Amino acid sequence: MPPAPIPVRRAAAADRAEWRRMRDALWPHESAEHADEIEACLRAPADAGAAFVAERAGGGLGGLLELRLRDFAEGCTSSPVAYVEGWWVDPDARLQGVGAALMRAAEAWARDLGLTEIASDCDLDNEPSLRAHQALGFAEAVRVICLRKRL
Ligand SMILES: CC(C)(COP(=O)(O)OP(=O)(O)OC[C@H]1O[C@@H](n2cnc3c(N)ncnc32)[C@H](O)[C@@H]1OP(=O)(O)O)[C@@H](O)C(=O)NCCC(=O)NCCS
Repeated sequence: MPPAPIPVRRAAAADRAEWRRMRDALWPHESAEHADEIEACLRAPADAGAAFVAERAGGGLGGLLELRLRDFAEGCTSSPVAYVEGWWVDPDARLQGVGAALMRAAEAWARDLGLTEIASDCDLDNEPSLRAHQALGFAEAVRVICLRKRL
């Protein structure tokens, strides 16, 4: 028998605590901003962006994908582009198709808006993320070096 589909749905207000927990795990240095950013996501127009969550069989959530529209994305030729801002699966739930199910939901959302490209990024040393993106059909576009100067 084929495995049961992983339940993925739009994130809702009732997911705040779990949503924040997963954001904290993905972006621990930006934890102070997460509550406000979640509220902003919940208030944003439905076609400005989307957050999807994966439900665990026993209750609670095991994965999160946030995307929003960007006017420009490196390597893309269309505008706007659906951009994956965050993609997280709890460590104990990885390599079981949860990340792929979240990405499928994101791609369907973008297609429904008539978009023709979806873009994402990962740190140079995040090999698992690069491999997962590639397994799901993403091709490397460019490598960038980010620079800063204190003023
Ligand atoms: C990236 C991440 C979301 C993938 O989630 P996941 O649930 O493990 O992904 P899936 O099980 O759905 O795998 C999807 C595909 O990617 C592949 N894949 C996933 N992790 C992989 C890894 N570490 N190495 C190689 N391939 C990998 C899977 O084999 C699968 O390919 P297949 O369909 O050909 O078998 C998860 O590893 C994660 O949360 N990482 C930490 C946060 C992070 O780095 N996020 C991305 C920020 S850029």
